[in-house]
Amino acid sequence: MHNLKLRTPSEPEFNEICHCISEFELDNRELQREQFTAAFRDGQLLGFGRLREHNDCTELCSLGVIAKERRKGIGKAIVSELIRRAPADVYLVCIIPGFFHPFGFRIVEKYPAAIGNKLNYCTSELVVPETYTAMRLRK
Ligand SMILES: CC(C)(COP(=O)(O)OP(=O)(O)OC[C@H]1O[C@@H](n2cnc3c(N)ncnc32)[C@H](O)[C@@H]1OP(=O)(O)O)[C@@H](O)C(=O)NCCC(=O)NCCS
Repeated sequence: MHNLKLRTPSEPEFNEICHCISEFELDNRELQREQFTAAFRDGQLLGFGRLREHNDCTELCSLGVIAKERRKGIGKAIVSELIRRAPADVYLVCIIPGFFHPFGFRIVEKYPAAIGNKLNYCTSELVVPETYTAMRLRK
């Protein structure tokens, strides 16, 4: 996408991301600035996502694009960059498997314990009408 910059956020930018995460009701547990890749245009924050390293896997989570910038390819650019940065297979839990399928993520019935914990967290704390699904991308 034209003029889009993807990089690790600065401290003030990270604070802005934390604000968006609570507004979008995304996973806000143990947020660390270095985990994030954020998208900017002319210095303005457009979106973000993070790779969280668990003992047993790498998880892609806390992905969001500001509402007026959605459906312009920004989410796709962030996910591509997170995949590039990931050291190994990537797991995630989501309600929109159709968004992640084109990157090579596939629904899995078996997953590491950290992803089981995430499914429990989503089901109990981030309650939505849709069903949460675990997916894996093989690297
Ligand atoms: C989900 C989200 C990050 C997508 O970001 P985005 O910048 O709008 O996505 P993109 O424009 O890069 O879309 C890429 C593709 O996915 C599709 N897509 C976008 N949102 C989708 C959704 N909710 N469900 C299924 N497909 C979706 C687009 O049609 C597009 O397909 P195309 O390339 O064939 O045109 C954004 O809608 C968002 O922040 N939503 C609220 C927070 C959220 O739900 N986060 C995900 C938690 S798992």
